[in-house]
Amino acid sequence: MIVAIDGPAGSGKSTIARELAQRFGFEKLDTGAMYRAVAFMAADRGIDLDDEQGVEALARTITIRFAPVEGALRITVDGRDVSREIRTPAVDATVSKVAAYPGVREAMLEPQRAVAEGHDIVAEGRDIGTVVFPDAEVKVFLTADPRERARRRVLQRHGGDAPDAEALEREVEETLAAIERRDAADAGRAVAPLVEAPDAVEIDSTAHTIDEVCDRIARLIEERR
Ligand code: C5P
Repeated sequence: MIVAIDGPAGSGKSTIARELAQRFGFEKLDTGAMYRAVAFMAADRGIDLDDEQGVEALARTITIRFAPVEGALRITVDGRDVSREIRTPAVDATVSKVAAYPGVREAMLEPQRAVAEGHDIVAEGRDIGTVVFPDAEVKVFLTADPRERARRRVLQRHGGDAPDAEALEREVEETLAAIERRDAADAGRAVAPLVEAPDAVEIDSTAHTIDEVCDRIARLIEERR
């Protein structure tokens, strides 16, 4: 069984995919991490991100894998653990550029599909229900108000100790601008844009907790299993 969760940046896809994968014993596939790994490796190897052919050649030659290390899922590129490096603001700001290159997307497709072979999976990204797994049994398009998505991102970044109200508000504004730039780039690209699949169930999580959203998707999974 394939559960596809698509949606804009910061809508809670990762948290919800992790929770559902745990509940049902499914594999989890974070496709955004793969595009992030390409963006990070290009910068690391000094490849100009405007050099489409150079970035595409890189995407075709690297091997990206997910492997559990001490209970946490790590992402490696040719054996190097880049889990931390792919979550920086620099990667946030550049990933949409490499993700828009058709050759990069093509290079990611086969390894993404390979994860589903012989496994039930929860896959999350932007084009899972439309391009990667158009026949997925459950398709969810997860959204939330942009300001709420920015607020959650900032709180998540600070863990338990949030900054004072003024600093928080400033950071939320900055994060909101970055999220909106990324969504516009992802929705506006020619190949596999961020768009809701016609047969997806749209869930707006603005006023709901993670558990409530998971329960709703869990019901869809149980109905279609
Ligand atoms: O999900 P996450 O925010 O980590 O994704 C990072 C970026 O990777 C997105 O902004 C988008 O440009 C790209 N992406 C994509 N297709 C996917 C998943 C992510 O283009 N299926």
